[in-house]
Amino acid sequence: HHKIILDCDPGIDDAVAILLALASPEEIELVGITTVAGNVPLERTAYNARRICTLAGREDIPVYAGCPRPMLETEGLHSTVHGDDGLGSVKLPEPGFALQAQHAVDFIIHSVHAEPGQITLCPIGPMTNIALAIIKDPSIVPKIKQIVFMGGAAFCQGNVSPVAEFNIFVDPLAAHVVLSAGIPQIMLGLDVTLQAKIDAAYLDELQQVNSLLKTTTAMMRSYGAADPCLHDPCAIAWLIDPSLFKGIRGNISVSYQDGRHRGQTLVAVKSRHLENDATNIEVITEVNNPLLLKMLSERLSRL
Ligand code: BDR
Ligand code: CA
Repeated sequence: HHKIILDCDPGIDDAVAILLALASPEEIELVGITTVAGNVPLERTAYNARRICTLAGREDIPVYAGCPRPMLETEGLHSTVHGDDGLGSVKLPEPGFALQAQHAVDFIIHSVHAEPGQITLCPIGPMTNIALAIIKDPSIVPKIKQIVFMGGAAFCQGNVSPVAEFNIFVDPLAAHVVLSAGIPQIMLGLDVTLQAKIDAAYLDELQQVNSLLKTTTAMMRSYGAADPCLHDPCAIAWLIDPSLFKGIRGNISVSYQDGRHRGQTLVAVKSRHLENDATNIEVITEVNNPLLLKMLSERLSRL
């Protein structure tokens, strides 16, 4: 049973990750959703997260808005694969509940202190909120159970540059702050998420289940044209059933300076040159995609 804060930038695959978490109450307790500027600007991610909770009938989930820009620039890069509104311009309900007044960074700090060693942080967008929480109150660091994140490309090409993945590229300094803090961390980067492919036949079947899945598959279809991968849901799926995945221990560093290597995640793997106690991350490299897709459809069908 994991208590998680899902830090996200919905985003269609973020929306699917939220739904997967809500559909898995036995394994995942969603303490709150925090949002950040990423795929779309902050106002949009905070609004979209609430639209998805309303869609799922879960207006009890507190949603907090966080940072409107990355650490390095006044305006971050946004994505084009999620449509103008960030959710594929699919018809969704208006949010039926208000945003929390507290800032996401303060909510993260407060939650970690309230339950030391219990909270898993799950960033599936740029890591600005988590970095700012660590900078504002470094005493949270030893109290964070683990960070399970979607981001980076350790052994494969990037998706916004030859070497960088979107979430890390948008705020590489934040990723550096978070990933060098000494917190136990699991990376679900492009190495694994590019294997988590969906196709039209899968969506055709899923859309029959109920009206929620009709809406959800419509979002996935719009996104699937540009990028048919379940990036963000992989982080939630790993928490639910890590036996679907394989990984390798390593030591990660993030290239945070501007230039050709901006946002590159450099991983030295455990070897005779690098012993286990010199590693700081588990890099997930493989997923059993048929079992992942089965998990997703079984779980989402419960909603
Ligand atoms: C990541 O970038 C975003 O567009 C997705 O939501 C995902 O978090 C994949 O590189
Ligand atoms: Ca995302």
